[in-house]
Amino acid sequence: MFLARSIQEFREARSTLGGTLGLVPTMGALHAGHLSLAERARRDNQACALTIFVNPIQFGPSEDFATYPRYLEQDLQRCASAGVHLVFAPSMEEMYPPGFQSWVTVENLSRRWEGERRPGHFRGVATVVAKLLNVTQPNRAYFGEKDYQQLQVIHALVRDLNIPVEVVGCPTVREENGLAMSSRNVFLSPEQRQRAEIIYRALRRGQELVRSGERQVARLEEALRQVLAQEPELRLDYVAVVDAKTLEPLSQLNGIGRVLVAAYLGSVRLIDNAAIGPG
Ligand code: PAF
Repeated sequence: MFLARSIQEFREARSTLGGTLGLVPTMGALHAGHLSLAERARRDNQACALTIFVNPIQFGPSEDFATYPRYLEQDLQRCASAGVHLVFAPSMEEMYPPGFQSWVTVENLSRRWEGERRPGHFRGVATVVAKLLNVTQPNRAYFGEKDYQQLQVIHALVRDLNIPVEVVGCPTVREENGLAMSSRNVFLSPEQRQRAEIIYRALRRGQELVRSGERQVARLEEALRQVLAQEPELRLDYVAVVDAKTLEPLSQLNGIGRVLVAAYLGSVRLIDNAAIGPG
């Protein structure tokens, strides 16, 4: 496995590998979810690259950029065991040298939900993903469905800017109790990890109700809220049943939609989602 710290090092190393390249962009603190993306990238391509970069421009001023978990040595070991060929772990200056002033905005998809709660977040994500795709020039790029709005933003970015890469969305990897894997889960106490299973329970309740014929979104959302209210420590931010592509709110579920949940346990923000619809 080769570790590139600069764009030039990455490109030189890439040129020695033939065939297609699958890319897994990450902010490090790798867990089983990231490793499943790397596994998929390896399966679909001759070579697999993974980027590790805690991207400052996608954090708001009162968010956790300074305390975001950083475990480079452990991450590199995990990449090597997962058969990653190339890791790109640039410095801040490499990604944002003095004079940096160009941004990418994906307008409509960035407006609601996480975009509303975290102003500027998706502009930071779209900008860094566009840069990482330009630097690494993969054939395919792999993202988890856990950050579902991010995945839709990236689909739109690649389509609208004609970036020649296939974006592959991959299923959320969960802990045994259903909690979606996330680098920020390290901030949860063991007890909070147990309590967090209520989110997955609520998502499943929504799916059950649809299977038994419910199509009214207001009733589905209320049912989810009732499940979530069973966990007194959980502070709900939003629950919404939305169009799976535009992320606009729905009033009636006719095809397959997406249910989005965001909540806090202590100071940890948890987001999760699931497909919801008949069939
Ligand atoms: O999902 C993430 O880890 C980040 O948002 C990404 C896509 C690597 C951009 O920094």
